[in-house]
Amino acid sequence: MSTTYGGFPGTRPRRLRTTPAMRRMVAEHRLHPADLILPAFVREGVSEPVPISAMPGVVQHTRDTLRKAAVEALEAGVAGIMLFGVPEDAEKDALGTAGTDPDGILQVAIRDVRAEVGDELVIMSDLCLDEYTDHGHCGVLDAEGRVDNDATLERYAEMAQVQADAGVHVVGPSGMMDGQVGVIRDALDQTGHENVSILAYTAKYASAFYGPFREAVGSSLKGDRKTYQQDPANLRESMRELALDLEEGADMVMVKPALPCLDVLAKIAESVDVPVAAYQISGEYAMVEAAAANGWIDRDRAIMETLTGVKRAGANMILTYWATEVARQL
Ligand code: PBG
Repeated sequence: MSTTYGGFPGTRPRRLRTTPAMRRMVAEHRLHPADLILPAFVREGVSEPVPISAMPGVVQHTRDTLRKAAVEALEAGVAGIMLFGVPEDAEKDALGTAGTDPDGILQVAIRDVRAEVGDELVIMSDLCLDEYTDHGHCGVLDAEGRVDNDATLERYAEMAQVQADAGVHVVGPSGMMDGQVGVIRDALDQTGHENVSILAYTAKYASAFYGPFREAVGSSLKGDRKTYQQDPANLRESMRELALDLEEGADMVMVKPALPCLDVLAKIAESVDVPVAAYQISGEYAMVEAAAANGWIDRDRAIMETLTGVKRAGANMILTYWATEVARQL
């Protein structure tokens, strides 16, 4: 008998790809709604949701539509919601005061969502100053206009307290200041919030893919964040950030962005014993939506492929603007 097959007899990997049922059975990774976390923006002083042009399908919510979005996410089985506040421009100042005002938009939104969904959904909040500062940086500036690490930590400690007072379950410090996790842990513990967890943005790279987010939060940033966010050229540096965050008390760690950093995610996921999250950021969302709108890629398949890839790389949790939509399909 002759054969044209050049491999070893019996070794035909394609056998396991023959039918959808077979492929389903041998799938090594599958997404579950509980893997997903929905990032959501809430804007002060608007009576209708405001579309974000660079993120088709995503809006800046009113307080009211945010509550609805939280309920929809919950009903779809999504695990959590990550809240970002967008204050009125007039509220922005050099210190980002609106970020520590108990009646600031984020704190109000946390209370709203908590009242709506209670403990059913994990309520998380971005703990960072960039949404509230008139210069748009993630921290306060020194006399030379540089981001002042330790002065910023004092602001973060205050933010942690007001967000926790408002009822958040998890704070997500995203400013990449040295020592932020430790200072926030202390602040939470000293104010009776021992049970509020910290999802540390452990590896956060200075990424071009944050572009659409700047529109989403109406950022006033001029310049860049390269003195505090990481250089995409570096991997080992993320392991140092990881060690520090764990030592300082991070309960969960995150890698951001997701797709350009799958190697970082895989390496971190292999080396920790805490849950690992990945943030599929605004530009990752925008690039799939833009290509799909042009008919260049199959939108639904592309979304699933990116999310499955992130899960395969080792993420337990994925923050994605498609969370509710995808959870409904699973
Ligand atoms: C900072 C923060 C950013 C994002 C989440 N938190 C922006 C930045 O670092 O410039 C980006 C999220 C996204 O792009 O989807 N508060």
